[in-house]
Amino acid sequence: MGHYTAAAMAAPSTAEAIRDVNTRYHDAAAESYDTKWGVDFGAVGRKQVRGKLHKLLGTPLPRYGRSLEIGCGTGYFTLNMLQDGVVRDAVATDISPRMLDALQANARRIGVVVETVACDAEQLAFDDDSFDLVLGHAVLHHIPHLDRAFSELRRVLRPDGEFLFAGEPSQTGDRIAAYPKRAALRTAPLWRRLMRARPVDGYEYPDTQGQPPAQHDALDGESLEAFVDVHAFTPEQLGAWARGAGFADVRVRGEELLANWFGWVNRTLEATAHPDDIPWLWRQYAFRGYLALQRVDVALLEGRLPAQVFYNLMIAGRKPG
Ligand SMILES: C[S@@+](CC[C@H](N)C(=O)[O-])C[C@H]1O[C@@H](n2cnc3c(N)ncnc32)[C@H](O)[C@@H]1O
Repeated sequence: MGHYTAAAMAAPSTAEAIRDVNTRYHDAAAESYDTKWGVDFGAVGRKQVRGKLHKLLGTPLPRYGRSLEIGCGTGYFTLNMLQDGVVRDAVATDISPRMLDALQANARRIGVVVETVACDAEQLAFDDDSFDLVLGHAVLHHIPHLDRAFSELRRVLRPDGEFLFAGEPSQTGDRIAAYPKRAALRTAPLWRRLMRARPVDGYEYPDTQGQPPAQHDALDGESLEAFVDVHAFTPEQLGAWARGAGFADVRVRGEELLANWFGWVNRTLEATAHPDDIPWLWRQYAFRGYLALQRVDVALLEGRLPAQVFYNLMIAGRKPG
């Protein structure tokens, strides 16, 4: 699965407005989120999540008692970790209530139990020292005050408890991703003709490439995508947030390069077409191709190139005992 954040840097200027667009956008996106991003809770999704955990935590994977996920969305990490037995009891939080509804629907379907609580990552509704693991995927870049979020994570973790985040956009990766996106936008009319797909309104402004409408308050729903991202990180910055909050054993890695270019091209093309018109075969090609290129990234590039050239950054650390 690919989480490709559009770090458009068109976010509103106050923290309150950033939270507001994030809540409204993700509420509107919740229903079709899993299809759009290829979120999977079968063997493929579990393997994906396991692969990311191995990169941060090594092999074999540790087992945790009680976990807290922030910005859990529809449950990609928590539900797959529960199924794999990496965590025993899970609490999942998000600022978007509709995302939590979607997560509970997924949990019922696959037969796992998880507690959900709607809350902001900067103000966690939990006691001190109450989790063994705190985690998130593709969420830090949406949070206005990262110092507050990291200090909350530390507060709710028990001493010697661990945190991990994956799927955060790197500054270099984000800049490089602009090229495949621009190329895809240019070829989109031809691609839609081949797919016999109708265009959607306003597809010229998917995120960084266009001139997004200036007023986010006048927009609603999924048209807010260009406004929800606040940060893209360097590995050093990401590490500094965690160390600044008092975490120990902090390590940052990069992952996915070719897979992300491929993903950006496909997603940019898809965003220009009416979702019902995108053929099943195309979706299969996009998903399988993405997985194949992820394997190439792991085998040939990750570990050889510096963290900052990859699109996604991941980080882990420990609350000192
Ligand atoms: C890109 S989605 C990722 C969802 C999920 N973690 C995944 O990987 O599929 C980002 C999620 O973070 C949530 N979010 C955004 N700002 C937040 C905040 N300040 N506090 C908590 N969650 C937030 C959004 O509602 C959304 O569900």
